[in-house]
Formats: sequence, structure tokens, C-alpha cells
Amino acid sequence: MTTIQTVAFKDQKPGTSGLRKKTRVFMQPHYLENFVQAIFASIGGAKGKTFVVGGDGRFFNDRAVQVILRMAAANGAARVIVGQGGVLSTPAASNLIRQRGTDGGIILSASHNPGGEDEDFGIKFNMANGGPAPESVTEAMYEAASNLTHYEIAETQDIDLNTIGQSDIGGMAVEVVDSVADYAALMETLFDFDAIRAMFTGGFTMRFDAMCAVTGPYATEILENRLGAAPGTVTHGTPLPDFGGMHPDPNPTWAHELMAEMMGDDAPDFGAASDGDGDRNMVVGRGIYISPSDSLAVLAANAHLAPGYAKGIAGVARSMPTSAAVDRVAAAMGLQSYETPTGWKFFGNLLDAGKVTLCGEESFGTGSDHVREKDGLWAVLLWLNILAVRRQSVAAIMAEHFAKYGRNYYSRHDFETIESDKADSMMTALRDSLASLPGQEVEGMTISAADDFAYTDPVDASVSKKQGVRILFADGSRIVLRLSGTGTQGATLRLYLERYAETGLDSDPQEALAPVIRAAHKLARITEFTGRTEPDVVT
Ligand code: G1P
Ligand code: ZN
Repeated sequence: MTTIQTVAFKDQKPGTSGLRKKTRVFMQPHYLENFVQAIFASIGGAKGKTFVVGGDGRFFNDRAVQVILRMAAANGAARVIVGQGGVLSTPAASNLIRQRGTDGGIILSASHNPGGEDEDFGIKFNMANGGPAPESVTEAMYEAASNLTHYEIAETQDIDLNTIGQSDIGGMAVEVVDSVADYAALMETLFDFDAIRAMFTGGFTMRFDAMCAVTGPYATEILENRLGAAPGTVTHGTPLPDFGGMHPDPNPTWAHELMAEMMGDDAPDFGAASDGDGDRNMVVGRGIYISPSDSLAVLAANAHLAPGYAKGIAGVARSMPTSAAVDRVAAAMGLQSYETPTGWKFFGNLLDAGKVTLCGEESFGTGSDHVREKDGLWAVLLWLNILAVRRQSVAAIMAEHFAKYGRNYYSRHDFETIESDKADSMMTALRDSLASLPGQEVEGMTISAADDFAYTDPVDASVSKKQGVRILFADGSRIVLRLSGTGTQGATLRLYLERYAETGLDSDPQEALAPVIRAAHKLARITEFTGRTEPDVVT
């Protein structure tokens, strides 16, 4: 066991989901080690504790796991449970943390960001409930990292992570477990596998694009091996350190191969894609794309069709920028709907307190109280369970849903790698203008309210401020702007657009939203500040 003197890095501030940096930043001497020591400091030390460790298998995952094991041992941890090969999807890690009654876990991932030596890497800590560390803990991490002078590490050879079983580093047990088995078992408790299997046997076809990322083995085991989907249903199913050059972000832009197939002549009945670490999902029907906000609403309205939710759901939660579609379902069902800041960590308290069962974000994240992370395959399986019970096409289910609840036309426009000072100036000017906006008319719509979203947690009363600018219109339309907290280069402006309609339910969202888009550009002066006229990614 050795104590290494180090110099603090001043930029180790966790964002929306842990610390994300370029891989090469993490690879420089002491960088990863410092932050791991700061994690242990922020949770009152590692002594006698049990942790789960795993990541999405991207470049540097294997090296980082070895470092974390040696540091956990030197900091006195009792046991670390590691996914085979150092690999665990984020929801599988959340499940193991909970199922094994551990003190938390360290997850290595930069989620949907590309992987590789010149791409992105990330690390975050999840608490004993299986959910991302709350802001109080991530702030303590930043504080500890900023003042760090030394860290503890064991000098030892690499641990064999490929063989399931137990070994030891200086008295700390290292337990290597099957990455998929416990997660697949959990899914079997929630969904009617027999009904889904019967649907596949009856000729139902599906394509699942794992995008060369972590869900490949999970999807192959569950969909093909256990549910009987045709071999080859899962494509890009072998995880690769650089995701085969793919950008594992399951949206129409990056999952374009899947989109092309689903919109083509011989499209399967159902399509889905997942992200780098397996917590996101995109679902697509034959010839029809489902926006994540609408998917959340449909899942809330139909969850009772799956055995795990047959008793009904307690309530729902969505992040503020997510459309209000799920609120309409909740209102009709007499359920409470909570509006939280962006980031899964804000759902944790609501889930733990039993206030909500389902939650979701517009950024292709949906989940429930079965774990404390969003869960891509879970959402896909819930859709499959609903399809198996309703025996309708995805398009028919969506048409019925919109006819009943109306449609929240929705889109997100991302403007990427803007120079940070330009993006900051734009947001500052917009924030300064908020008080003067109510009553103004733009594009024929009257502004009814404008604010910077602040959230008081209904469980622990903690307050989170400056969570995004909201501009609300009298006709129910809405514009939200915020800067991404997960990027690693410059600033990414996210512009969220929404318009509610009770008639004209078949329009193209970009057309339905055209006046809202124009209003957003005028009010935020996006081109004036950033030079950008068109978004880089539209979802
Ligand atoms: C993005 C998404 C957000 C999600 C987060 C982590 O954060 O917008 O909904 O929780 O990734 O997956 P952002 O880059 O917007 O801060
Ligand atoms: Zn992710």
C-alpha cells in the first residue's frame, strides 16, 4: 500500500452525470487517481465498504477498473463486485448495487459520447440506492478534488477480470460476476416473457441496434436467447472500445441505419436502439418514430399491462425540458406528475419515497423504480409487453394515444461546440431579459411567463437553481433553453420546443413547431450571439 503525493486538478467538477473529459485527460498521470480519491473522500472514506465497479467497455475502461480496484484496496474497502471484463451497463450496475446491498458503485462511462483514445471518457459514483450521487455529494467530490494532496494505491499486478470468481488484493475481496445474468433475471420479474415470446413465435419482427456498445450482450441474451427473437435481431451487437466508430447516441441522427430500415419498405414491426452504457433508448415503429416524451406518456398509460406494474403506478416524473405529454396521462389517471431539473439524479428521492414509479427525460431516457438509473432495455421490453397484450401496431397505438390526450408536438435542437463565452453571453442576455418578456407578442403568440427553472426537492427540500430558461406562451406552447452539462468541448446549446394540439395530429413536428422555432431564435438572439443559424442535431 503506497501513498502518492499529487497536485490537485482544478477542473474535476462533476456535471449532469459525473466527471466527463476527453479520454486523454483521464489518461494523464494522477488524473483518474485524484478523482477516485476525491470520490472516497466525499462519501466518508472506503473503509470496510463494499462497492460495485464496472463500465461500458469503452477505451481505457479496462485500465481504469484496475486502478480503482487498487485504490479501493488501499483505502480499506472490504469487497468490490466487478462485471466480467470490467463491463456493466449502467442499469445493470445500478441493479447490482441495490441487489447486493452495497455501499454504492463507481461507473465508468461517457454515456452516448463517442469512445476512443481521442474521444470521451467519464466516471461517476452511485449511492447505495443505486442512483447517481446527489448534488451535495458531487459538490463534496469537487471540493475534495480541488484540495487533494495525496492518494492511496496498492502496488500489485492486474487482477484477472475475465474469469468469474473471487480473488483478493491485500485483504480486499474482488468478486467478478456475470455482467448480464442478474439484470436479465430482474427483467423476467417485471415482464411477461411468455407473452412476448409468443408474439415473436407468431412472426413479430424486430431490429435492435446496440451500436457496438454495452447493450449488445444484454440484448442478445434477453431478446434472442430468452424471448426467441430471430437470430440477427440484434445488430452491432459486439461491444468495441471505440464503438466501431459509431456515435452511440440512440436518436434519429446517429441511429440512422436503424431509422432507414424502419422507414423502408420491408421494415420490421418494431425497432429500438441503445446508447454507449445502455441507459438510453429510442423506439421506432414500422414507418413511425416515437419521440421520447411521447414514449414516456404511452408507457405511463399502459404500464399496468406488464406484470411488474399490474397494480398500477404511484406517480410519474419528468425532467423540466421533457414535454408535458406524460402530465396529461397522469391527470387523466388521477396521478401526481413531478417536474425535476435535467439529470437522473433528481428522480432518486421521488423513487425512494415511493412518490413515483415511472420517470423519463426527453433525451431518450426512461425508467422506473426497478433501479435508480434510466434503463434502455427495460423501456424496450415494456414496449414489447404492451405490444404483446394490445396486439396493435405501434402506429395504431400512437394514433389512439394522440386522439385521447392530444399531441404535444416536441423537438430539441442542439447547437454543438459553440465557443463557451459566446454561449454564456447569450444565456446571460436572455436571463436578463426574462422579467420584461411576459405580455410581449412574438410570432402571433403571447408570452405568459418566463423564468429560470428552480427546483425544491419535495423529499429533502434541497434547492437547485438556474436549471434552464423557460418561456411559456398563453396558447400552451413553450420554449426552454439550457447549456449542456455533459459535453467535453466548448458549449452545447439545447433548445427545447413544444406546442400542444388537439386537432391536426398528423403534422411533421418541425412544421407544427415552426412559429415556436422562429420565436426562440428571435427571443434568444441565437444567431447574433453564436453565429449559428441551423442546429447540428434535431431530435
Ligand atoms: C444530457 C441530457 C440529460 C441526461 C444527461 C445524462 O445532459 O440532456 O437529460 O440526463 O445527458 O445522460 P446535458 O448534456 O443536457 O446536460
Ligand atoms: Zn447513457
